[in-house]
Amino acid sequence: MDSAPKDMCGIVGYIGSKEATDVVVEGLRALEYRGYDSTGIACIEDSGNAKLLKQSGRVDNLISLIKESAPRSHVAIGHTRWATHGLPNSVNAHPHANNNQDIFVVHNGIIENYQELKEQLIKNGYIFKSQTDSEIIPNLIDYYVRQIGSFEKGLSAALNDLKGAFAIAVIAKNKPKTIYAAKVSSPLVIGVGKNKEYILASDPNAILEHTKEVVFLEDGDLAVIGPDKLKIYNFKKSNKKKPKLELLDYDQEKASLGQFPNFMLKEIFEAPKTIQSAILGRVRPDEKIIKLGGLEGVSTQLNYIDRIVIVACGTSYYAGLVGEYIIEDIAGIPVEVQLASEFKYRNEPFSRSTMLLAISQSGETADTIAALEKVKDFGCLRLGIINTTGSTIARLTDAGVYCHAGPERAVASTKAFIAQVTVLTLIALYLSKGNNKNYTKLLEELISLPQKAQDVIDLAPEIKKIALKYKNYRSFLFIGRGYGYPSALEGALKLKEISYIHAEGYAAGEMKHGPLALIDKDFPTFAIATNTNDLDKIMSNIEEIRARGGPVVAVATKGNKAIKRLVQDVIYIPKTLSHTQPLLLATIMQLFSYYIAEAKKVDIDHPRNLAKSVTVE
Ligand code: AGP
Ligand code: GLU
Repeated sequence: MDSAPKDMCGIVGYIGSKEATDVVVEGLRALEYRGYDSTGIACIEDSGNAKLLKQSGRVDNLISLIKESAPRSHVAIGHTRWATHGLPNSVNAHPHANNNQDIFVVHNGIIENYQELKEQLIKNGYIFKSQTDSEIIPNLIDYYVRQIGSFEKGLSAALNDLKGAFAIAVIAKNKPKTIYAAKVSSPLVIGVGKNKEYILASDPNAILEHTKEVVFLEDGDLAVIGPDKLKIYNFKKSNKKKPKLELLDYDQEKASLGQFPNFMLKEIFEAPKTIQSAILGRVRPDEKIIKLGGLEGVSTQLNYIDRIVIVACGTSYYAGLVGEYIIEDIAGIPVEVQLASEFKYRNEPFSRSTMLLAISQSGETADTIAALEKVKDFGCLRLGIINTTGSTIARLTDAGVYCHAGPERAVASTKAFIAQVTVLTLIALYLSKGNNKNYTKLLEELISLPQKAQDVIDLAPEIKKIALKYKNYRSFLFIGRGYGYPSALEGALKLKEISYIHAEGYAAGEMKHGPLALIDKDFPTFAIATNTNDLDKIMSNIEEIRARGGPVVAVATKGNKAIKRLVQDVIYIPKTLSHTQPLLLATIMQLFSYYIAEAKKVDIDHPRNLAKSVTVE
């Protein structure tokens, strides 16, 4: 089944004894990293009045609107929008209301049949102000409630008419103590607080500070939240379901900026802690074992795996490419890495001894979800490397390994990449069952890696000085060989997505097959020249580039003095195994890109046109 495009907006709802609009706004702020272009809130005041406040731009602007209006309410819903239908402006912002202004809806996703529903509603006298698909929902509910006479039945009827991917929350003037929520293939989770308060959100980050007790809504669920109780139905079969209470295993540490100017720098500096958290309790060099609890349930099936297909997008895809080299080298199992968005068009043979491995920070990337759904009936094992517990992909896969990197707020993925590559190394070691000459060395190297990652972080001032020399170039080439190649691809993505400078990653061995034509004094190259058995070849690549006047920034392994006479700038990483070099290289390229972007004064945590838990198929 093609999972319809999903959005990366944020939905928050609150019902309880606190000032509802305060709780909702704080929740929207916690979801800001998901990316959005406009935001809004609706509430039913204690007086019975309804208030609807919305505008384009950031949540901060919404706060001043709310202050002016000073609502007093205990039930509210809010939304941060990433537009799919209609410009990002205050008319198209959510919540949307019915013509009577007494039903308010926020929506994540796309209503694929909104045009025909809109035409029918117009025939029935409804008028529309926005260009969005979402605005049909409150009017469709209104239509059925008038026809059927019951709000819940009318809402169910409306939900059954909707086609596409959606998560919605609804409040109504004549139901002042209730929030309704429903979902089909977009995430929604309900936090069950103390003294009968409930917090609804698109992801647990907005719930964390209130409660750890949550109910994840399943596709087809309609939740009736309050007064004082939570009921869940399946709106397709209209049978009641017992809410399944789960405990969020997020630690209470909320990503707060502390002394950092933004989340991206904070998350880059977390590299040592990220590696530490990913190996904690899993790497035991004294017993020479790798313990991956999440795979124990499928350990027998893993014995029969003779091929692994990794599916992912963006940075997670590049982590997968590093994993390909590591798993093939350490575990001796053939690996193929595919872009999740392309995987769906392949008609490749998929035997039961092939394992699908999905890598996703958010666990909500529809392309990656679509890849998992494509093989659902193949009977093959589906594993996940996920950073967000309880996410859709975490629940779709048969087993997996969590990254434990903590919430990643910046749109540009940094610590998640580090965590994913660390987990891939652990999986490679786990699958090898110790039968590899580098097994023990790699185990011990992982233990020493957090300190080496800190040594790289300590180079930040030096990296900044070098980066600022390159901030005005309009294009950049990143090259590497072996493990340096996927590292170069990821480095290029980082630079382009946060500084908006065009950057291209390339296998260094390909230079003579085309890219060398690009080289001149205005086209710099970031060359990964760390100690591997290909070092001499990459040094020749650098000479070829220098001979054509191309500026070169190189990353080399401490002790390589020869490279200094070749290039303008060199950044040294500590000695480490080739398998673990990507973990140190990533931090250097993240910092390099970060300082260039900082100098260009762009919105580093929210690069233009991008969003975090991102996906449109
Ligand atoms: C990486 O910096 C980007 N934000 C993006 O490419 C991201 O890696 C991609 O969208 C995949 O997201 P996921 O890991 O949450 O699935
Ligand atoms: N499709 C809806 C719109 O464009 C919802 C977008 C979202 O998920 O933020 O308004």
